[in-house]
Amino acid sequence: MGVLLFGWNKVSSVVHFIATLGVFLGSMFSAVWIVVANSWQQTPAGYHIVGEGVNARAEITDFWAMVFNPSSVDRLTHVWIGAFLAGAFLILSVHAYYLLKNKHVDLSKKAFGIALAIATVCSLAQLFTGHRSADGVAHNQPAKLAALEGHFDSLAVADMYLLGWVDKENETTNGLKVPGGLTFLLHQDFETPVKGLKAFPKEERPSAVNAVFQFYHLMVAIGMILIGLTLFASFQWWRGKLFEQRWLLWVFVFAVILPQIANQVGWFTAEMGRQPWVVYGLLRTSDALSKVVTANQVLFSLILFTAVYLLLFVLFIYLLNKKIQQGPYEDKEIFQRPKQSDMADLLGKA
Ligand code: HEM
Repeated sequence: MGVLLFGWNKVSSVVHFIATLGVFLGSMFSAVWIVVANSWQQTPAGYHIVGEGVNARAEITDFWAMVFNPSSVDRLTHVWIGAFLAGAFLILSVHAYYLLKNKHVDLSKKAFGIALAIATVCSLAQLFTGHRSADGVAHNQPAKLAALEGHFDSLAVADMYLLGWVDKENETTNGLKVPGGLTFLLHQDFETPVKGLKAFPKEERPSAVNAVFQFYHLMVAIGMILIGLTLFASFQWWRGKLFEQRWLLWVFVFAVILPQIANQVGWFTAEMGRQPWVVYGLLRTSDALSKVVTANQVLFSLILFTAVYLLLFVLFIYLLNKKIQQGPYEDKEIFQRPKQSDMADLLGKA
């Protein structure tokens, strides 16, 4: 990270590139264990329960079955691609801004083109991985899927809502829908019923059904907008007209927020949809509460976390803005980079 951030004029371009790759791979691996642990909570595998009552605990019996539990791979690819989209849209936003301000034009056209290619491929791939995740949820966590889609009646062919509102009291959903759409996506026909929320006792359904429904639909809607936007921009690029369309560049300046929102609401969907379980089908969230920590202590640490993260967020925006205003290194600085130097040279100097 240090070489990536501060090493531009101190190491050769190869060393700088390797450092950049290292940071990239480091963040990819970090996502692996977070998503594997979370996926185990969604679809536990490779364990057995030792002890009874309050002393019962899960122990690993098969490490690889735990790592490759039924939802790990689909969710990891979905999360990775979500991160690539966040990165690509940040680059698109910054370079669209430079192009609109007529700054660093040559470099910005190249950077925009590369980021657009990545964003287009990833937007399409995200639809594919998202569909695989939904298929997995239908199989492993049917109550969650019913909540995502606001589907109550198990005997009915399931519709797919594009927009809607869930009425939890009356157990219905109203909105704009494709009749039989969910049945078709899951079973490739228009006849097979899909298990609805009424098939589960009330205490085994996610309590915030409407919130889960809205977050899920917002994520999918953003996914569709990203596909439309990147395909349209790629078409304009192919026609050689992309950089003349100022309105489109302005759209990209602000579109940076879309993958950020989709990533957040994606996690809300996955986690609120898992309720009332902290480990699906095994341990209820209400039973997972610590008996020794008081509500006030939890509130206090939450307030502290919020304050620290708000501070970091403000600092992040301040530094990001400073970097963007400063712009990339000018050509002369790039030429000043010592051509023969490498890590050993840098360490020697240090
Ligand atoms: C294009 C249509 C999309 C579909 C059909 C879709 C589907 C899904 C499903 C079913 C889940 C829940 C998985 C689970 O609970 O195990 C989910 C979660 C998630 N989604 Fe999406 N998604 C789409 C677009 C996006 C986009 C565009 C992003 C980000 C840029 C995104 C980011 C996430 C994240 C971060 C999660 C939480 C982690 C996970 O459970 O995989 N999704 N998505």
